[in-house]
Amino acid sequence: MSKVALVTGGTRGIGAAISLALQAAGYKVAANYAGNDEAAAKFTEETGIPAYKWSVADYDACAEGIARVEADLGPVDVLVNNAGITRDSMFHKMTRQMWQEVMDTNLSGLFNMTHPLWPGMRDRKFGRVINISSINGQKGQAGQANYSAAKAGDLGFTKALAQEGARAGITVNAICPGYIGTEMVMAVPEKVRESIIAQIPVGRLGAPEEIARCVVFLAGDDAGFITGATISANGGQYFV
Ligand code: CAA
Repeated sequence: MSKVALVTGGTRGIGAAISLALQAAGYKVAANYAGNDEAAAKFTEETGIPAYKWSVADYDACAEGIARVEADLGPVDVLVNNAGITRDSMFHKMTRQMWQEVMDTNLSGLFNMTHPLWPGMRDRKFGRVINISSINGQKGQAGQANYSAAKAGDLGFTKALAQEGARAGITVNAICPGYIGTEMVMAVPEKVRESIIAQIPVGRLGAPEEIARCVVFLAGDDAGFITGATISANGGQYFV
């Protein structure tokens, strides 16, 4: 029987590559998304992967959405908390709304998605929770006090929950992508982006597929001894 994987923010960017890589590895995949109906419809048409719309920032919507996915595909074995947003601004110009929106999606989103799935994973004595954090949660980034704080929080969440899940056969791990060639990074002003690429030893942005292969590795049955870990995939830009 194929295992079921749910990928948040799974129809675009890194999430789309993760959904596809899990499908190629034999999982039944559900891709969640929050807003872009057109991109989601195109993604489903091209891949056959069903897309489910709700915001990870809304706990009740997560519980309802997960119930729909499980009714359609079966219990979720692998959760990939990938959905994330940026509201970049130097701190002196950052509004409370910019802070809150990033916290709600990038940090509380992990609680909102993992909490409803946790009892089932515990009962079945198997689960994989894979959190997509960021290099900027490790090193901090000017213009991203909100994002860096949330992504650092994701790492604390990962390490705490790994300890709770271990005896129940649930692993909880994080991946910290560096700068990957997605719309999110392309939204950074060109001059700033060029100066960032100059700091990446491999001399290029990463590809979404390079993050997806880390996810497939951590999702596997044979990755059960790896928990609470952080995989950095950043082209050598930052070593922890
Ligand atoms: N460190 C210190 N100061 C910096 C700085 C840095 N890295 N970058 C800019 N500054 C300073 C500038 O010198 C400038 O100072 P002065 O006014 O005294 O000259 C001031 O901050 C304002 O800089 P900008 O002109 O760039 O201000 P802006 O308002 O036009 O833009 C910004 C601000 C939106 C934050 C823009 O700088 C930016 O987009 N920066 C990139 C942030 C970034 O890396 N985001 C990552 C997005 S991708 C992602 O998040 C995925 C992932 O996980 C990696």
